[in-house]
Amino acid sequence: MGKLRGERVRTLIAGNWKMNGLRSALAEIDAIIAGLGDVPEGVGTLICPPATLIAAAAERAADTALGIGAQDCHTNRDGAHTGDLSAEMLKDAGATHVILGHSERRSDHGELSELVKHKVMATLDTGLVPIVCVGESRADRENGLTDKVVLGQLDASLPREAAGRDIVIAYEPVWAIGTGLTPTTDQIAAVHAAIREALRTRYQAQADTTAILYGGSMKPANAAEILSVDHVDGGLVGGASLKAADFLAICAAAV
Ligand code: PGA
Repeated sequence: MGKLRGERVRTLIAGNWKMNGLRSALAEIDAIIAGLGDVPEGVGTLICPPATLIAAAAERAADTALGIGAQDCHTNRDGAHTGDLSAEMLKDAGATHVILGHSERRSDHGELSELVKHKVMATLDTGLVPIVCVGESRADRENGLTDKVVLGQLDASLPREAAGRDIVIAYEPVWAIGTGLTPTTDQIAAVHAAIREALRTRYQAQADTTAILYGGSMKPANAAEILSVDHVDGGLVGGASLKAADFLAICAAAV
């Protein structure tokens, strides 16, 4: 299920540090690397720190099984875009993956799926793996719109160029992010199955090797249960990825 550092992985545990982490937090990267020996075989590990730490984290993670990713990129390769970073710059700094269309980007920066799609194209052009996030709000779920919203975001965020390419999808219900709330396993199973079906319609066989991660309040205590749900191929972990011990405990749960 997907690849990390050229190795095929059946489960991907990706940490999203968001806007957290000074240089001192590189000690957590070192601690994760020190614990990689206990991560079950076939489980890929990725940490997406803030952009300021990518190069230093990637240097530490070089020649280890830990991948380093980014949390966003610009659609263009270079140019007059003050404050932005291109996919090529992130790759040059050592990133292998880029999270795109996270709900916090969609809400904080008004990012729409059309923009996410162009970011996915920029990422693929550069040879990085996009982690494309989709998810419904609490109101969407209460109004019975979960599938419509999630599948609509998915369809509009994926470019035609994604066919045959290594991509990762993350289903993150907005109401579960950072709240301690999680959907039931039946709710997770239903959305993941719907995403798989939509990917099959669009990409046929490729759909079965595309990792679909679950994200939203995943932690050591609930990881084993969530990761055992059909069509859940890993996790996108926010808060619980900031501490090496918690991140490694989630990886250990992915047996
Ligand atoms: P959380 O964040 O694990 O802190 O809920 C997940 C995410 O937003 O990727």
